[in-house]
Amino acid sequence: MKVLIVGGGGREHALTWKISQSPLIEKIYCAPGNAGISTIAECVDISPLDFDKLIDFAKKNNIDLTVVGPEQPLVEGIADRFEEENLLIYGPKKEGAILEGSKIFAKNFMQKHNIPTAKYVVFNNPVDARNYIGSGEITCPTVIKADGLAAGKGVVICENIVQGMNAITEMMENKRFGKAGEKIVLEEFLVGWEASIHIITDEKNYVMLPCAKDHKKIYDGEKGPNTGGMGAVSPSPQIDATMKETIRKTIVEPFMKGLKEEGIRFKGTVFFGLMITKKGPFVLEFNVRFGDPETQVILPRIDGDILPLLYSVAKGKLEGDVKMSGNVAVNVVAVSRGYPGKYEKGFEIELPEPTSSNILVFHAGTKLNEEGKLVTNGGRVISVTALAPDIENARKEAYGFLKQIKFKGMFYRKDIAAV
Ligand code: AMP
Ligand code: GLY
Repeated sequence: MKVLIVGGGGREHALTWKISQSPLIEKIYCAPGNAGISTIAECVDISPLDFDKLIDFAKKNNIDLTVVGPEQPLVEGIADRFEEENLLIYGPKKEGAILEGSKIFAKNFMQKHNIPTAKYVVFNNPVDARNYIGSGEITCPTVIKADGLAAGKGVVICENIVQGMNAITEMMENKRFGKAGEKIVLEEFLVGWEASIHIITDEKNYVMLPCAKDHKKIYDGEKGPNTGGMGAVSPSPQIDATMKETIRKTIVEPFMKGLKEEGIRFKGTVFFGLMITKKGPFVLEFNVRFGDPETQVILPRIDGDILPLLYSVAKGKLEGDVKMSGNVAVNVVAVSRGYPGKYEKGFEIELPEPTSSNILVFHAGTKLNEEGKLVTNGGRVISVTALAPDIENARKEAYGFLKQIKFKGMFYRKDIAAV
């Protein structure tokens, strides 16, 4: 098979790494990819949002399956376009991707189908929103979310009313996230442990993947602003077999029923961002693609080939299952100083070759410069996944290898999988 992966971060490196091991693979391409991906696939310089060029490429190169990494192309309709051209694609069409593309749509879906989620109110204009939080109806902290996609930055946890007022003004009047912030959701603050649950579904059946936990905040002890994710662990230490069953019964099953009742077509991954509270698991958000960095700890724990599963889903009928290895996986992300705010790029990266097959290096923002040297090219730069029989050893191995990687301004959290 000839497979095209769309995207160029750590998630796509992990997907390319896993899929490239399939005995079915004849050739694997990635658009646009990164320096790490270019060692295992042919990278093609096409933006994930340039659907015309991607379609043209898929046709000219007889691509059997396209696998989409990031959410934006899905929300903008890449799968609709590919299907119109009779090209097989893994990832939902617009009608399914809206579950991530609109928080309001997602919250209304959850409410209608009895999926536990934080209490919420929707606002279409800043005056009503400010009046509401000024009226004394709510207690702080409270959570304000831009309705649309905002690259993981559209959620503000407000410790007091003033912060809430400012967040509303920033999103709705100053248009910090453009159209994405024209409508907002104001929701109850939930306390608990976060967890990431992924399923692969053809909308009728599904398989659950190993659970994971990511660390979203930039600093140790879950402090500072939210990032795309600073590291992850799988399985999640807070999820035992009983909790997994509760999640299946109270969240995944009602979600599947909801898809059916609404007539929403969905072929791809659903990643449920959960908060495990004292009252049980609640959904914070739906994502319609694999998590990043969750994918870097989930895929290494799956034994065997995942390509037939993805292919069968793209064709519309899920076939097969996933076999999980007993190992624990820990992933730590090294970022550029300044991230998730402003940062510099173009610094040379010193990267030794891992000597053990239990250490995997996934590139995110990296490229080869004109001299062919590996340099930084993004906020999240590179990450290390270690596999071990237990969490302590996986942490030790991941951090041990990360210490050997060097670039100017390199920063990483020291407490991934420890808190
Ligand atoms: P989301 O994009 O909705 O997953 O939100 C991003 C992050 O904000 C989550 O991973 C949580 O850390 C935090 N968050 C979102 N909603 C809530 C909530 N209702 N209560 C507490 N924290 C939340
Ligand atoms: N790690 C969170 C996400 O991929 O959205």
